[in-house]
Amino acid sequence: MCGIVGYIGAKNCVHILIDGLKKLEYRGYDSAGIGIINDNYCDVIKTKGKVSDLEKMLTGKNFTAGLGIGHTRWATHGEPNMVNAHPHLNKERNLFLVHNGIIENYSSLKKGLQKEGYNFLSETDTEVLVNLIDRYLKKKHNLGTAVRYALNEVEGTYGIAVIYKNEPDKIIVARKGSPLVLGVGVNENFIASDVNALISHTSQVVYLEDNEILEIYSDHFVAKNISDKEIIKEIHEVDIAIDEISKGGYAHFMLKEIMEQPESIYNSMRGRLLPEEGTSKLGGLQGFEDRIAHSDRILISACGTSWHAGLVGEYMLEQYAGIPVEVEYASEFRYRHPVINSNDTVIFISQSGETADTLASLREAKKKGALCLGICNVVGSSIARESDTGVYIHAGPEIGVASTKAFTSQLVVLALITMLISREKRLSVTDGQYLINEMKKLPRNVEKILKMNDTIEKIADKYVNAKNFLYLGRGYNFPVALEGALKLKEISYIHAEGYPAAEMKHGPIALIDENMPVVFIATKDSVYDKVMSNIEEVRARKGKIIAIANEADDQIDKIVDHAIKIPQTADMLTPILSVIPLQLLAYHIAVKKGLNVDQPRNLAKSVTVE
Ligand code: M6R
Repeated sequence: MCGIVGYIGAKNCVHILIDGLKKLEYRGYDSAGIGIINDNYCDVIKTKGKVSDLEKMLTGKNFTAGLGIGHTRWATHGEPNMVNAHPHLNKERNLFLVHNGIIENYSSLKKGLQKEGYNFLSETDTEVLVNLIDRYLKKKHNLGTAVRYALNEVEGTYGIAVIYKNEPDKIIVARKGSPLVLGVGVNENFIASDVNALISHTSQVVYLEDNEILEIYSDHFVAKNISDKEIIKEIHEVDIAIDEISKGGYAHFMLKEIMEQPESIYNSMRGRLLPEEGTSKLGGLQGFEDRIAHSDRILISACGTSWHAGLVGEYMLEQYAGIPVEVEYASEFRYRHPVINSNDTVIFISQSGETADTLASLREAKKKGALCLGICNVVGSSIARESDTGVYIHAGPEIGVASTKAFTSQLVVLALITMLISREKRLSVTDGQYLINEMKKLPRNVEKILKMNDTIEKIADKYVNAKNFLYLGRGYNFPVALEGALKLKEISYIHAEGYPAAEMKHGPIALIDENMPVVFIATKDSVYDKVMSNIEEVRARKGKIIAIANEADDQIDKIVDHAIKIPQTADMLTPILSVIPLQLLAYHIAVKKGLNVDQPRNLAKSVTVE
């Protein structure tokens, strides 16, 4: 999704902006641009395409400036082209603005401005905002006031950064629904929509909240709310190492992140297991354990891969905590007036912690008095901050658009929460100790699976040209089937469906012939025999079968085309292992098709629009 960077200080901002935009590339975008101001000139350089294209345009120009903003755009209003790219500017070309989010009332604002003589060059909603600010500047307001007045007229969401040639000592930033963070330096300041773009410069950050406006100078900043009341902002220390956001020798971030899972899974449970008591401790939930354990219901709201993690969570919590659980797409939850009571706990799962639908559903649940529990990866993200209580998954930065290590870490955290609240319910000390033992083995077991990378790549070779794929699983492996299908479709653009295996006979079986690859997740759990019957049904119709099975299962080799063997573990923890071959399968198929796996078309890492 769109990215914002900015700089004010004594250095040449051009390199800083380009470097920052590169760090935001993983979010997905289709055009890029920068706007710079110095004593003698100001300019906007933008293009359709990649940051590398923008860099080429800058070659030989020797621009130097101490003030600038930059943007990567993911098209919402108007196609990806140079004119629609940000920064947008006024007619005099001395006021530049970058914007993430959507101005919902842009059409009526545009008509009003057109009546006053403003012309529009782009099809974007953003151009309305820059002209609106210009209108207040022409009424002799200073930049800060002009931005505030303009924002008061705007409906929708925004994270904006604005610079003005006539006030070259400041950047104005404002947030409503779209993340922004200030990086505090020494006699220089940075802004970005994502801390990853800042951490090579500073670890001191200030997170903007909704309806806040910051005037940022090189040596200080002033924070106000939209009603012009000054507010005090806390400076936080971020703890991300620079090598965590580089590829570390791997061809793609996605592969690196798949390979990091032994460590990320370990980090998610580190210091959180209580082996003797057969349960867990989660600092973030301290004081809330009883309220969660005695909830009438648990609702889980999330999107995409995080929603799949929620489905696994439903199975875990119902099995051990005995509390009814409902899992909702956040996008539906926010608009369908769900029944939420004050004795419900609502869990929000989000890797980025910024997904617009999930954040909106959190606000809805909060209004209705439910306890809101966030499970996030990005520290300090909006969902993490706005939840009543929560648990970080500690997977480390996930850059690849396709979520991999965040999924397995979300599952670890859901298992920990399940253990925490199930002791007085259906989880005996012995069962808890068994689960803990199995959890401790997870990193080693994942390492074993990752060693099969070459075997999985060879299987991928055979299916690069497949047009469709079916993924089938039951019980705990049903959400894994959904996740396997999502991984494949989002990065390889092959149509893939995930289904509960038994549901196949109610429709999808009609699709099966010798051209249909079917991936079964057939581990030795309580529904193993039933899945074997489903495999036979596909075999009888000549479908090609790839099975994820357990190491000790010799029988399955006789009836499937390819068997990928994984270690056996507790049923509840199986998805943490069974999903890994599916991540690798999707990855290799996409690479063999020559596709950009880290930035698949039309997708964004952090979906901050509806
Ligand atoms: O940051 P979130 O976990 O809230 O993101 C939710 C989805 O956008 C995300 O999982 C998406 O489906 C990924 N591309 C899946 O790989």
